[in-house]
Amino acid sequence: MERHDGKRVVITGGTSGIGLATAKLLISQGARVLITGRTEATLETAREQLGNNAIAVESDAASLADIDRLADRVKSEFGTIDLLYVNAGITRFMPFEAMTEAVYDEVLTVNAKGPYFTVQKLAPLIAEGGAVVVTTSVVNEMGYPMISAYSASKAALRSMVRSLARELLPRGIRVNAVSPGPIETGILDKTLPSDVAAQTKQAMTENNPMKRFGRPEEIAKTVAFLAFDATFTTGAELAVDGGGSQL
Ligand SMILES: NC(=O)c1ccc[n+]([C@@H]2O[C@H](COP(=O)([O-])OP(=O)(O)OC[C@H]3O[C@@H](n4cnc5c(N)ncnc54)[C@H](OP(=O)(O)O)[C@@H]3O)[C@@H](O)[C@H]2O)c1
Repeated sequence: MERHDGKRVVITGGTSGIGLATAKLLISQGARVLITGRTEATLETAREQLGNNAIAVESDAASLADIDRLADRVKSEFGTIDLLYVNAGITRFMPFEAMTEAVYDEVLTVNAKGPYFTVQKLAPLIAEGGAVVVTTSVVNEMGYPMISAYSASKAALRSMVRSLARELLPRGIRVNAVSPGPIETGILDKTLPSDVAAQTKQAMTENNPMKRFGRPEEIAKTVAFLAFDATFTTGAELAVDGGGSQL
């Protein structure tokens, strides 16, 4: 018998990087996993990689109508769930002086408003003793240039973890955050020109106490720990960052 046999899991943003690595880990340990993403082709590739214990659903984390439809789909596929992993997120690099209302709204909507309503709409489906994990970021506690809106969105999310942990406690549902430092997922290559991405990666590697990027699998193990093993932990945020936020 695998560790997570029979567990039913929903992962938003499960088509690449951290979300996909978490889906792979939990499926390898016996879980059934429903992943979401926005892009049809990536959803299909992820579903093929994950196999028969995965369901891939197109759902925009920024759309409340999509979140409602997602809740209906989860209910019809699983009935109740054991873990909701709210992971979908975007980064936009832009100096504070150049920030536009459109980019600010996009980042805050995908990274903070969407997650808030995803938990609200899916919480009724979480079984007693189940868990919510969200992906924040170490930048929510630090001042970095170029990512002020992103950092603010993750700080909002970190605060929500505390409030929602309190409100879901009567149902025995724990709510925690995993807070990644630099993780090799290609997120920088998606959002920056290749030369700037390479320079940024080099600087981040040199600045990290462990002198490396983390691997998505290292976040996945932490998500599994917070979801299923950390039974006396709620409202917390666990950094997985090579010590970058502490040393
Ligand atoms: N990598 C890092 O260094 C790092 C550090 C700190 C925090 N994080 C956080 O970790 C999480 C995962 O990031 P990652 O590095 O694994 O990046 P990634 O590989 O780009 O994965 C992001 C995932 O979110 C999905 N997504 C993005 N916007 C969405 C939307 N509006 N609706 C539905 N799905 C959406 C993407 O699907 P589509 O491709 O279809 O859009 C993809 O599945 C994010 O919340 C990110 O902020 C990452």
